[in-house]
Amino acid sequence: MLDQIALRAELADHYDLAPSADLAAEMSGIYARMDRVMSPPDWAIFAPYVAAIRKLKAERNAVILAHNYMTPEIYHGIADVVGDSLQLAIEATKVEADVIVQCGVHFMAETSKILNPAKTVLIPDMAAGCSLAESITAAGIAEMRAKYPGAPVVTYVNTTAEVKAASDICCTSSNAVQIVRAMESDTVIMTPDKYLAQNIASQVPEKQIVWWEGSCIVHEQYTATDLREFRDWNPGTRIIAHPECPPDVVAEADFSGSTSGIIDYVTAERPEKAMLVTECSMASNISDALPDVDFVGPCNMCPYMKKITLEKVLWSLHTMEGAVEVDPAVADKARVAVQRMIDLSARLNG
Ligand code: 13P
Ligand code: SF4
Repeated sequence: MLDQIALRAELADHYDLAPSADLAAEMSGIYARMDRVMSPPDWAIFAPYVAAIRKLKAERNAVILAHNYMTPEIYHGIADVVGDSLQLAIEATKVEADVIVQCGVHFMAETSKILNPAKTVLIPDMAAGCSLAESITAAGIAEMRAKYPGAPVVTYVNTTAEVKAASDICCTSSNAVQIVRAMESDTVIMTPDKYLAQNIASQVPEKQIVWWEGSCIVHEQYTATDLREFRDWNPGTRIIAHPECPPDVVAEADFSGSTSGIIDYVTAERPEKAMLVTECSMASNISDALPDVDFVGPCNMCPYMKKITLEKVLWSLHTMEGAVEVDPAVADKARVAVQRMIDLSARLNG
């Protein structure tokens, strides 16, 4: 993959990408969704890329599925659908366009390919990985099965297709409680996120939950002491944590939920001050829609999610490079685990 500077130079041979105040003004409706977190000069730089991508995606008959952790210019500027992992997986099954551009990390693109194999699924940077997905292989699942014979394996979607294929059912942070509770066995194996598993274990005490030792490099950095001190210094702040955080961090929070759960909570509750204990772009993406909420406190950046940039999205649509392929035999098995999750989730939520 070319670096950002080389990419810009290559792209400039094909598109007019010079910063443009006129284009920025023409697309002020899009800018209005992010003007609280982006300066006008920054928008003048992004606007030509946003315009080029929107035009090219129509020509290629492509849709852009973007995760809630994408930067505002991607989330508000070019995405057709935004959401958490579960919502993006469900949306992938419905795509009729020829091409899906996955603005997120590799496992998300793989999930889209598994669920809609006839489509071309592009990931703008193949190196957009995930520390959880890298923490386990199919051999790890076999190891857990050998240690806990007969226990079902509930695997987080943040995993490779091979790992999903070796599992019984998938889960995301928005449905993990329901999925684990629905397992018939008293013992349930959860992989690969030990913190998600521990947070679910406290909500499903009737099950013995055993876990793999994986963790998210973004959420594991938060500590309960940080949160307590922040609350002491900033009384009245509502603290909202993703369940990939360690359990003592979640215990300090007022609410814990998936990225979309967090958005729904803040949208419904409208606290005066909110600290989102998760990836930095979350607060940026929702702050214009919630002008009465002051987003405060530190956040951590996901280096994998941040590999996806406007330049790389334009490049992938221009070259159609970066198509995600999954061995059909692996995909067939992985689809069973993902589809079971989608079906069970739909059934349990009426
Ligand atoms: P969500 O399913 O909550 O969007 O989480 C995905 C993720 O990677 C969080 O780190
Ligand atoms: Fe993976 Fe954590 Fe990044 Fe989510 S935030 S993609 S779990 S490394």
